[in-house]
Amino acid sequence: MKTPAITAVGHYAPDKILTNAYFESYLDTSDEWIVTRTGIRERHVVENQATSDLAVEAARRTLAMRGIGADQVDLIIVATVTPDMFFPSTAALVQNRIGASRAWGFDLSGACSGFLYALATGAQFIIAGTYSKVLVIGADTMSSITDYRDRNNCILFGDGGAAVLLEPGDEPGYGYLDWVNYMDGCGEETLHMKAGGSRHPATHETVDKGWHYIYQDGKSVFKVAVIGMAEAAVEIMRRNNLSSDDVAWLVPHQANLRIIQATADRMGIGMDKVMINIDRYGNTTAATIPSCLAEYYADGRLKRGDNIVLAAFGAGYTWGAAYVRWSI
Ligand code: COA
Repeated sequence: MKTPAITAVGHYAPDKILTNAYFESYLDTSDEWIVTRTGIRERHVVENQATSDLAVEAARRTLAMRGIGADQVDLIIVATVTPDMFFPSTAALVQNRIGASRAWGFDLSGACSGFLYALATGAQFIIAGTYSKVLVIGADTMSSITDYRDRNNCILFGDGGAAVLLEPGDEPGYGYLDWVNYMDGCGEETLHMKAGGSRHPATHETVDKGWHYIYQDGKSVFKVAVIGMAEAAVEIMRRNNLSSDDVAWLVPHQANLRIIQATADRMGIGMDKVMINIDRYGNTTAATIPSCLAEYYADGRLKRGDNIVLAAFGAGYTWGAAYVRWSI
């Protein structure tokens, strides 16, 4: 059995930035409220771009870091809840655009846990020895399903794409070493996008009712997210005999700084060991965790040998955690 390792990582954020001041300009909100309740100061949003554009750029940067051509990729998994279209898959659009001529692939819908679900899925093809190069992408254009009149939700989300390349690891004890993923569909009520699927196909009525936007009961989601993300992270530590001193970085899904702080507290680690970029990007759903990895690796803070715990919670509900010993 091979141990999968992350051998390259890349991140892309669109150019346009919406600051908290922008929301102050037309909504009954304030920079102070947004920063203290969420930790977010600004978020990037697309202009004339879709999720495949974000995914393609992230994929290109990842392959460039590894120094290989797209024609060497075996499999492309795109975690997203905002595909360009229902079909063909965003993975198919990425495959064509980057020229991954011998890859197949698919989209995976795990919401904010999408990247962790996709990582676990892609890793199985490496462990089984089926493939040697799996591109796992998390990309979301949350602005396409956000109601910018809804102050409860519009301040939370941003757009972005990030990717990792999974390959068989070159050294025992390094790489993607363990994971736990969970799901409880009772979360449908508190966090969903109601229309546009087969339950409520698009009609004038569904559009008038705003059913093509994110609906979230923030307070209810907050309560379960705090518990789920922290428990999964602590479970991963326990299963792998990791003390708080052993953990170099917590890499949390970036939905709310207070949820992240609660998770770090439960793990017994200080915020100096937590990867944070929510202040600059908001919640980019499937892109948050790989975007942190890309930024912290690029500036040298994430180093070979670091024990890192990835953790996420999202719609479904879905949640999970993973243990990676960084190998590049
Ligand atoms: N500016 C100012 N006030 C706002 C506001 C905004 N942008 N958005 C909401 N409020 C108001 C609410 O209307 C409420 O007012 P009321 O008491 O008069 O009704 C008040 O602020 C407090 O709202 P509350 O829901 O208690 O705030 P909160 O501390 O729970 O924070 C969230 C709200 C959305 C930031 C928080 O619940 C959250 O982050 N939830 C989870 C989000 C999440 O993780 N989602 C994705 C899962 S991956």
